[in-house]
This record gives sequence, structure tokens and C-alpha cells, in this order.
Amino acid sequence: MVKRATDVTQFHSVDSVDESHFLIDALERLRALEGGRTARAALIDRLSLSQGDSVIDVGCGFGDEAAEMARRVGPTGRVVGVDLSENMIGEARRRHPASIVQLSWRIADARHLPFEDHSFEAGGAATLLQHLPDPAGVLQEMTRVLRPGGRLAVLEFDHATTFLDSPDPETTRVICETSTTAFVQGWMGRQLPRLFRWAGLQDISVEPMTVLGAFDVAQLILGRHVNWLRDRGTLSSDVVERWWSQLAKADQAGVFTMGTTTFLVTGTKRWR
Ligand SMILES: C[S@@+](CC[C@H](N)C(=O)[O-])C[C@H]1O[C@@H](n2cnc3c(N)ncnc32)[C@H](O)[C@@H]1O
Repeated sequence: MVKRATDVTQFHSVDSVDESHFLIDALERLRALEGGRTARAALIDRLSLSQGDSVIDVGCGFGDEAAEMARRVGPTGRVVGVDLSENMIGEARRRHPASIVQLSWRIADARHLPFEDHSFEAGGAATLLQHLPDPAGVLQEMTRVLRPGGRLAVLEFDHATTFLDSPDPETTRVICETSTTAFVQGWMGRQLPRLFRWAGLQDISVEPMTVLGAFDVAQLILGRHVNWLRDRGTLSSDVVERWWSQLAKADQAGVFTMGTTTFLVTGTKRWR
């Protein structure tokens, strides 16, 4: 069996993959995408935070959203950034000054949050559930720690919606379909409204948004996956080489087009 190299489908195991630094660099580059920045800013807005609120950001990564939430809840509030990865929490600590007293970090698993029921007014998670085997259970766990009337906002890609303009649609179809199934939850975005309902949330709003990626992002997201398809014989070296060179030409001509839909879903915990 041909082993997959560390790639963007492996954020479930940041500390135990062969190349943690690949995932940290990849997250840095993916977070720089304009569409992703807009979507993460919208997630924070939808939480309608007020001074003094308590907030949890689950799968917080570098902690930039948690830090912005902390600014919004002010010194009388409290924000906890939770992540399973020691490396990610280390990055979050390094990037955000200890002087934001209302902000703290916790290494913990989203499946078993180390907080009492009804601990937070608001909760957020961005691009976490797509990496987990039981997203419904994690949403229930996030709902458990919310106070009645509390807001939950979740942002997830739906990788099956990825579009990429190429003169070789058949190879593109094989690459995009197998890349989708390489994610633990390649169809996560579209499932969120149903899982929010199952978690007992109400006033559910659904906002699909498109995140466009440039040629270098296609290389980052698909490069190692395509190598794997080639090494296991799904695609020949010639086909792979031609496919990339056609995309590179499109890029040079300024007509490279690729994107994916991300879903921002918001809901409220019932009072009883
Ligand atoms: C794709 S990154 C997203 C990080 C951040 N939310 C953002 O939008 O930039 C996914 C994050 O979820 C974390 N993660 C993966 N599995 C987890 C789990 N079971 N519990 C908590 N965090 C987890 C990873 O360590 C990683 O930091």
C-alpha cells in the first residue's frame, strides 16, 4: 500500500503526523485566502458578542479568532481557545500576548470538553468538524457547554463542491472526487443545518459562501494527493504532468479558476 504524505486532510492529528510543520504552514496560507478571512470574520459577527460574555472557540488553531472574540467581550469577559494539538496551542500562545487577561488556552478534545454544562454564552468552531469522525457528537458537546439562549456558529467547507477549470475534466473529476473522500467529512458543510437541528439548536441560519483559491493554493491542497494517486497507479505520470502544466498555463494567462463552498451555520440553544 502506498502511504499518503502529510496533507491538508490530516488536521485531526497535527501532533502525530510525519510533518506537523507542513500543517502549520498550510493553515497559515489557507487562512490568508480572502474568502476564508471574510467567512471567519462573519462567524465572529454572528455570535453577537457583548462585553462580559464567556466564549469558547473549539479547534482554535493559531487562536486569531479567539483573540478577536476576547477584544469584543472586553476585560470583564472570558474567552477560552481549545485545541487538541499542543503544537497549535503553542502557536496560539506565541502569537497572542498574555496581556489579554480574558483570553486563555486549553489543550482538550472537542469530544469531551472539560467544562460544566451551561458555561458559555457563545461558541464557535471553524474548519474543525470536517476532520472528525463524529461531528454530530461534537456539536452536541458544544451545545451542552452553552447556556440556554447561547449562540453557536460553525464554519465548514464542503469539499465535494470544489470546482476547478481545466481542459481535462475527467482527470479533474478523479482528483476532486478522491480528494473529497480523503477528508474524514468531505461533505461537512451541507450537513451542518441537519446536525444543528439534531443538537437541539433553533433559529438556525445557513450562509453558503465561496472561497476562491489561486494556483499555488491548488498545489498546496491537491499536490500531495495527486502524487499519491500517481504513486498508487490511479493516474499515470504523463497525465499528472500534463494536468499540472495546463493549470500552470491557465495561471500564467491569468485565467486560473478554482473554489469551494464553505457553510457558515448559526443557531441558538433552547431555553428548555
Ligand atoms: C483546520 S484547523 C482550523 C483551525 C482554526 N479554527 C482556523 O480556522 O484557522 C483544525 C484545528 O482543529 C484541531 N483539532 C483537530 N481535532 C481536534 C479535536 N478532536 N479536538 C479539538 N481540536 C481538534 C486541530 O489541531 C487544528 O488546530
